[in-house]
Amino acid sequence: MHHYSQGKSTKQAHKAIPEGFYEEEQGLKGFFGPVSHLIKRKPSTRWSQIEGPLRPHLFDLVKLELKPEWQRLLYNHQLTISMAQHSSGLSDHAFKNADGDTIYFCHQGQGHLLTEYGLLEYKKGSYIIIPKCIPHQFFVEKATQFLVIENKSSHYEEPERGMVGRHAVYDINAIGKPNLELLDQFIEKHKIETTKVKIKHNNEFTHFMYNETIFDVVGWKGDLFPFTLHVDDMMPLMSHRSHLPPSAHTTFVARDFVVCTFLPRPLEEDHDALKVPFYHQNIDYDEVLFYHDGDFFSRDNLHAGMMTFHPAGFPHGPHPKAVNNVKSKTHTDETAVMIDSRQPLKKDPILDGVEFNEYWKSWQT
Ligand SMILES: [Fe+2]
Repeated sequence: MHHYSQGKSTKQAHKAIPEGFYEEEQGLKGFFGPVSHLIKRKPSTRWSQIEGPLRPHLFDLVKLELKPEWQRLLYNHQLTISMAQHSSGLSDHAFKNADGDTIYFCHQGQGHLLTEYGLLEYKKGSYIIIPKCIPHQFFVEKATQFLVIENKSSHYEEPERGMVGRHAVYDINAIGKPNLELLDQFIEKHKIETTKVKIKHNNEFTHFMYNETIFDVVGWKGDLFPFTLHVDDMMPLMSHRSHLPPSAHTTFVARDFVVCTFLPRPLEEDHDALKVPFYHQNIDYDEVLFYHDGDFFSRDNLHAGMMTFHPAGFPHGPHPKAVNNVKSKTHTDETAVMIDSRQPLKKDPILDGVEFNEYWKSWQT
């Protein structure tokens, strides 16, 4: 399809929007596909009433009572998003997920992870990536809360860096690799004998018991192994002249969803650049945003541990106060994890108890 324009339009998206007007991006394929920018007289979020199930959601996950078992929050056939909490100490079993790859994002806490490939370390802000079927056992040093993102239809991959090169976003050398020598030392120091493996397969649990420890690997080679990546080792892409779409912050790619990380960064410098997220309809994707840390100025009344869920099908954008707040800011100071799902997500009933039912009104001035 050829590019076409009528009436008021901008030369560059998200920049020099005519005074007193609002831009809305309508795009396919999650910021990669055909896209148009509409210049409107009013913000796209000016609904006066919503009747029916399609609506934006805000949840306060801090109010959930969490356990080491994953508490499912949102799900479909390709993906589950859960929370889990571990108190200090060694888990009494290793866990193996035969349903898919697992990302644990450490929202709070600190500790180690024992795997057959070696010892991994994690702390607040670490992603831990565990490929399907790899046993892992937590040794928690500081009470830990994880956002858990289970990939049931593919395997996690790095994002395409394209024209910005292989070392953009994060250098592969920054990943935390499993250390077999440290694992042996750790097991000896803490006198660990792991003889139980809990396996999740088809959402059912089976326990395998052994007479001797399962950690008996003396060496390995290959490119399949668990690893960590910390937000401090991630280098956000940006343009000092115009706002880049969320896809610029992609951290891991799955077949049916992406995981993005929004990090503290300077705001755009051009006087006519949009500095808050643009109004948009991300037509093909359900969007989930987990607020990890910092000052979330783009929305009102947000604190760390909250999660928004914006199903595809309606436009969204910054809250009115954010548009004013940003005028005095030169940097963002927020760290958030976004999961964009190609297939619609369902809400677990447990979220009903921690939902702000008036969230859909929060864009009204
Ligand atoms: Fe969005």
